Amino acid sequence: MLLCKLWVFGFLASWFPSASALDIDLNDFKTLQNASALVAKGLMDYYTGDQYGQTIGMFSWPYYWWEAGGAWNTLIDYWFYMKNDTYNDKVTEALLYQSGDNHDYVPLNQSTVEGNDDQAFWGIAVLNAAERKFPNPPDDQPQWLYLGQAVFNTMALRWDTATCGGGLRWQIFTWNTGYDYKNTVSNGALFHIAARLAYFTGNSSYVDWAERVYDWMHDVKLIEPENDDNKYVYDGVDVSNNCSGPVTRIVWTYNHGLVLSGCAYLYKETGDKIWYNRSKAFLETAAKLFYNDSILYEYSCQQSKTCNVDQRSFKSYYSTFLAATAQLIPDFREQIMKVVNATAYAAAQACVGGYDGHTCGINWNQKGWDGQYGLGEQMAALEALVVTQAMNKPAPYNSTNGGNSTGDGAAGTQTAPTNLKPLHITAGSRAGAGIITCVVGFSIIASFLWLVM
Ligand SMILES: *[C@@H]1O[C@H](CO)[C@@H](O)[C@H](O)[C@H]1NC(C)=O
Ligand SMILES: *[C@@H]1O[C@H](CO)[C@@H](O)[C@H](O)[C@H]1NC(C)=O
Ligand SMILES: *[C@@H]1O[C@H](CO)[C@@H](O)[C@H](O)[C@H]1NC(C)=O
Ligand SMILES: *[C@@H]1O[C@H](CO)[C@@H](O)[C@H](O)[C@H]1NC(C)=O
Ligand SMILES: *[C@@H]1O[C@H](CO)[C@@H](O)[C@H](O)[C@H]1NC(C)=O
Ligand SMILES: *[C@@H]1O[C@H](CO)[C@@H](O)[C@H](O)[C@H]1NC(C)=O
Ligand SMILES: *[C@@H]1O[C@H](CO)[C@@H](O)[C@H](O)[C@H]1NC(C)=O
Ligand SMILES: *[C@@H]1O[C@H](CO)[C@@H](O)[C@H](O)[C@H]1NC(C)=O
Ligand SMILES: *[C@@H]1O[C@H](CO)[C@@H](O)[C@H](O)[C@H]1NC(C)=O
Ligand SMILES: *[C@@H]1O[C@H](CO)[C@@H](O)[C@H](O)[C@H]1NC(C)=O
Repeated sequence: MLLCKLWVFGFLASWFPSASALDIDLNDFKTLQNASALVAKGLMDYYTGDQYGQTIGMFSWPYYWWEAGGAWNTLIDYWFYMKNDTYNDKVTEALLYQSGDNHDYVPLNQSTVEGNDDQAFWGIAVLNAAERKFPNPPDDQPQWLYLGQAVFNTMALRWDTATCGGGLRWQIFTWNTGYDYKNTVSNGALFHIAARLAYFTGNSSYVDWAERVYDWMHDVKLIEPENDDNKYVYDGVDVSNNCSGPVTRIVWTYNHGLVLSGCAYLYKETGDKIWYNRSKAFLETAAKLFYNDSILYEYSCQQSKTCNVDQRSFKSYYSTFLAATAQLIPDFREQIMKVVNATAYAAAQACVGGYDGHTCGINWNQKGWDGQYGLGEQMAALEALVVTQAMNKPAPYNSTNGGNSTGDGAAGTQTAPTNLKPLHITAGSRAGAGIITCVVGFSIIASFLWLVM
């Protein structure tokens, strides 16, 4: 029955091609709101968490838990930049529900498979909520800052000096593949989160931590070279041989963005020119690596068409981090907004696929939909559209310029405060929509039949 309905829908959709291009004009906010609302709807088609028997906060298979954290981050930006609160309740519900019994994003269901990087992306989402003044959770729930601090504290406790003089291992647990790998996304995220907490709270311990992590990454050559106009951020290094290498020299937009923007937050917080210089160097390198004709692309997998499910979402994190960088350091605005503008126009052109006419592809240089689709594609394009407003919105708030999320420096290291009540979930079920894959398939069949007929 469901399939039948889908078939008819796909058929009709291809019969009456209502899918017009997402025409955006960066000087007309309304066009951006309209286009991004469609792309956001496409993103939420992958959200099944509020359907019967599904888990709040989780997206449909094959999207892992960590990417869900990333998707909620994108939806916070959607609200912030596009002034549309349609999904806010779902965002709040998801972020609270998945925080786990100890409110540190090590929920029981993930606790045997979770890596440091997985936890970090939920931490980044809640810090974004604090910095953007996303509506605070009810008083009897943990607050955004608290949750971010809990992620930081639990990650920092895993700092491992037994090998390589420091660093986080990729995995938290010995039995998971990757336990012997100290990777950049885990360490870069710890650096990034420390930098943002320093900026939000003004607590200098976070600056010390950020320095410690950065220096270590530099020591083991995950970041290099120092004192150069260009700086590369590589993927990771094995702990055998005490991290003496070889370093896996693959570059990813999200790793680059984590480090680039972390430096920007630290510069804004400390005024120390070294962070300005580093930020600038990462920006210069990004211009060379991650842009084709000023349009953002995933250097290490996009052209070879080998991006996996996770990698397809990386550009979304890069864009959110890049926008924050532009807001924090005025000198970089011109350079950043030039590529943000070009990328948004290109991404909009790539979001005209599928039966719904707003399915986004991965290759934004294509001037049209490239036939690829997924949660990652949808997130990346949505973020590309919304950050065009970076200069029309305030820089990240913090505790002294208007941010009012509350926290606790010891969050996550103690058992959860007893005054926090378990989250009450209101029953909600929506008709199945997370079936883009299926629908695209049916749409193709429908088009084929149409041709035959
Ligand atoms: C935006 O969408 C609304 C509702 O569909 C429509 O009335 C309006 O004309 C659109 N505006 C622009 C600028 O596309
Ligand atoms: C807000 O977003 C929803 C869902 O994406 C969309 O249906 C609605 O038209 C949007 N409203 C505006 C004003 O953009
Ligand atoms: C954990 O998994 C169970 C079984 O799938 C589910 O009912 C529950 O909502 C999940 N909890 C979280 C926090 O993901
Ligand atoms: C491992 O590397 C760290 C940092 O580079 C260094 O301080 C430490 O002495 C090294 N340990 C061994 C056993 O080589
Ligand atoms: C907060 O932001 C302001 C800029 O608005 C910055 O000067 C300050 O260092 C930031 N951090 C704190 C803790 O105030
Ligand atoms: C930052 O870069 C400028 C220009 O290259 C240089 O003069 C200055 O010494 C650098 N400052 C620091 C702290 O690295
Ligand atoms: C980006 O686009 C906006 C809107 O058209 C424009 O005001 C701004 O100058 C552009 N920025 C750059 C650097 O091109
Ligand atoms: C850049 O985009 C063009 C299409 O506009 C494409 O032909 C070319 O292969 C792309 N280059 C890279 C390095 O992806
Ligand atoms: C925090 O700021 C928001 C938005 O300005 C406001 O609605 C809220 O009441 C404030 N909360 C507290 C605890 O001050
Ligand atoms: C400052 O941050 C450190 C490191 O997380 C924490 O131990 C300490 O409690 C914080 N201090 C305050 C006043 O929050």
